[in-house]
Amino acid sequence: MAKLKIKFACTECGTETPKWLGKCPGCGSWNTMVEEKETVVKTQGMGSSIIQTKEKPRPIIHIESGEEQRIETTLKELNRVLGGGVVPGSLILVGGDPGIGKSTLLLQTSHALASKKLTVLYISGEESVRQTRLRADRLGALTDKLYVLCETNMEQINDAIESVQPDFLVIDSIQTVYDPGVQSAPGSVSQVRECTAHFMRVAKIKGIATVLVGHVTKEGAIAGPRMLEHMVDCVLYFEGERHHSYRLLRAVKNRFGSTNEIGIFEMGEEGLREVSNPSELFLSERPLGVSGSTVVASMEGTRPVLVELQALVTTTNFPSPRRMSTGIDHNRMALIIAVLEKRMGMFLQTQDAYLNVAGGIRLDEPAVDLAAAVSIASSFRDAPTRPFDVFFGEIGLTGEVRAVSRAEQRVKEAQKLGFKRVIMPSKSLKGWTPPSGIDIISVETVAEALTAAFG
Ligand code: TYD
Ligand code: MG
Repeated sequence: MAKLKIKFACTECGTETPKWLGKCPGCGSWNTMVEEKETVVKTQGMGSSIIQTKEKPRPIIHIESGEEQRIETTLKELNRVLGGGVVPGSLILVGGDPGIGKSTLLLQTSHALASKKLTVLYISGEESVRQTRLRADRLGALTDKLYVLCETNMEQINDAIESVQPDFLVIDSIQTVYDPGVQSAPGSVSQVRECTAHFMRVAKIKGIATVLVGHVTKEGAIAGPRMLEHMVDCVLYFEGERHHSYRLLRAVKNRFGSTNEIGIFEMGEEGLREVSNPSELFLSERPLGVSGSTVVASMEGTRPVLVELQALVTTTNFPSPRRMSTGIDHNRMALIIAVLEKRMGMFLQTQDAYLNVAGGIRLDEPAVDLAAAVSIASSFRDAPTRPFDVFFGEIGLTGEVRAVSRAEQRVKEAQKLGFKRVIMPSKSLKGWTPPSGIDIISVETVAEALTAAFG
């Protein structure tokens, strides 16, 4: 018997070395080398990720174009994130914390596609077929076109694909699958890499839309070589707070659409339910007439969402005051506080300040600045703002309120939800006429915005 060789592979980039090293020579990351058994690559080249075709290069103008064919699922939020639907032959990676609902989402998607008369094969390496059936009972996901198999051996999975000939394939999860030709444990860098490469070839050659479920590491990245994300067409993350019932599906890479869109779901007794009007959800627990609370009109992709921002400003007992933010960049908060101190003369050095985006969503765009500033000012003065005001606008260092994009959509969303006034940058009013029935208060500086808010 040949001697078993040990080598080390980087979990970030897949670089292999014969000895353990603290720093990967490939990508320079620290503490990413893990022990692996020697890989035996088969002669037919399972390891090769290159799809061989006999085509010659052609001028780009001679290549047929036209819309990509897409399979629309009945889950509109999923279609939105994927850019319109599932593309046949694409490889999608879905990551997320354990228990967040990945298997639930994919079982529901499988059901939705199977009820459209597509053949779906759901391979579970983590749960038995009975467990999957029980879950399907609960979700009402029973269709004769949905095939389920509990298997982790790649060769058996291949046989199943040959016999079922699915249009849509789910592998739950990629870390449990192993290729018997590769002599390292399931979930190791080489196994995950080889298996993904294999599924990619199957997807491209047979035109099967394939979804791989990936575990995430403690830091929240998909476990396995970072390369995995380069190999697939789409990388989706399924996120959410464990204690909240809603879940966000976010694309971080998408070869067939934009990565701005998010899909919003709510986990209930009967599985995931789509949230088609997120603003209502995010405002549902809003207290009215209390200080520190404002509503911001923010954009999530191409969709406007109204979200409540809360601030709490209290006198500190420490020499350096605390600044804490959830759902908003910490540096952004520091900047807004600095502007309020310098331009508005608010004495915040002796105050702890907490800023929170209600509902656990993350707001990354600068348009939330104005609402954050008003919330902080409101808590500091202990003066509530009017409950039916909406704010948006970016704040500059001189205290000016700068224009933001898509003002019209934000205003319309505010009007739709019954808000009375919108306080927004005057420069964002160019090129469109505000709808009647909602008061637009255009401002140029933070000072003007505060006067309007507390006037
Ligand atoms: P699951 O899809 O198994 O998560 P993952 O595959 O990401 O590990 O989801 C499991 C959680 O979802 C579990 O805590 C129970 C909850 N859940 C519901 O609340 N309602 C449901 O209808 C289902 C199927 C699960
Ligand atoms: Mg699962």
